[in-house]
Amino acid sequence: MRMVDLINKKRLGEELSAEEIRFIIKGFTDGSIQDYQMAAWMMAVVFQGMTYREIAELTSAMVATGDTVDLSALDGIKVDKHSTGGVGDTTTLVVAPLVAACGGTVAKMSGRGLGHTGGTLDKLESIDGVCIEKSVDEMIEIVKKTGLAVIGQSSNLVPADKMMYALRDVTATVKSIPLIASSIMSKKIAAGANAIVLDVKTGNGAFMETVEEAEELSNTMVGIGKHLGRRTVAIITDMNQPLGRAVGNGLEVKEAVEVLRGEIAKDDPLYQVCMLLGGKMLQLSGIAKDDAEAVAMLERAIENGSGLERLKAMVTELGGNASMLDNPESLCKTELTLDLAAPEGGYIYALDAMKIGIASSMLGAGRTKKGDKIDYAVGLVLNKRRGDRVEKGEPLFKLYINDKTNLDAVKKMLLDAVKIGSEQPAPMPMVYKVIE
Ligand code: URA
Ligand code: CA
Repeated sequence: MRMVDLINKKRLGEELSAEEIRFIIKGFTDGSIQDYQMAAWMMAVVFQGMTYREIAELTSAMVATGDTVDLSALDGIKVDKHSTGGVGDTTTLVVAPLVAACGGTVAKMSGRGLGHTGGTLDKLESIDGVCIEKSVDEMIEIVKKTGLAVIGQSSNLVPADKMMYALRDVTATVKSIPLIASSIMSKKIAAGANAIVLDVKTGNGAFMETVEEAEELSNTMVGIGKHLGRRTVAIITDMNQPLGRAVGNGLEVKEAVEVLRGEIAKDDPLYQVCMLLGGKMLQLSGIAKDDAEAVAMLERAIENGSGLERLKAMVTELGGNASMLDNPESLCKTELTLDLAAPEGGYIYALDAMKIGIASSMLGAGRTKKGDKIDYAVGLVLNKRRGDRVEKGEPLFKLYINDKTNLDAVKKMLLDAVKIGSEQPAPMPMVYKVIE
């Protein structure tokens, strides 16, 4: 087989066989196929797309390039959850403990913040002492004790994805549904869970800006799951404003604790998305029969405190100081806090999630390059959400600051993110679609 012929075949829009796809992925990973040929092939995929069968073959070929996690030492169904990336999205730290408290098994490998979006590992590390670098055996032991573990991804999980992503990033081939879907699903499948709940974000703060694109990505990923024997559900949720009110690592852990303590209103978007995601995880685990039963179980785990206990138990197993979760203000102690006032009165009709994520990152909550140190305590809290009435001079955001270097630019970015008008906007859905 010659790579040049396979590039040409895809350029002409033809379907590749499993053998041909394995040849490409294996060859690229072992160095026998060069970057420029792989880049040309991926660009052909961007334009011609792939069939569901091809995407499933691509995903398995990618999984086969690295280690796969064997969770068979854990009984029952192991359920995982993945978000395509958002702002103020602290759902993992809420739903993983709640699902565990309801009898589910959650063994999860998470990621770090990327661009303007946050990452669960960074949030966990805002708790003193937490170490997320654990082996699979250690992860299994933690799950046996607490019902859940959230740790860093093993270094040799899907090396093909790391290499392809690095190349896509610099060849304008990131935005392709077959490439995004196989990238995400290969990592989920290699991480060993039997069941996967996907939270696909749509809106200005997300990869998929329109609901149609999010739906196509969701259908593709659910299709891959089905092909490869994993129960998969995708939920399309809104990212036209940050999901929670807190944006920043320690601040988001604090907000997760507030949800687990039952201190957040049931109509809050973060609460609603947590109930839906957690509910699907319980149903895929065979623990609840429908959304209503699942939500009742999750609410009980909030009311009786068992969800928060699970989070504390896991943090302790990761070497962290779980007492910080009893006093979550300790996670966001900064030298300075500052209210940012509304420049005019009216109704908030837009709160650009991407700009708000960038502003938090500029305060030090995110990285501008790989390996940058982040400040776990800094970030911001939204006092107002889309649709709220605000008076001139009323605080829109509370900023948590240690370094004032970028402060003027941060304020400008935040004021740019908010649009205030004279009429109350029609409510937008929080959940657009569930694909099972
Ligand atoms: N997230 C991933 O893991 N891969 C992509 O290609 C895009 C988003
Ligand atoms: Ca730390």
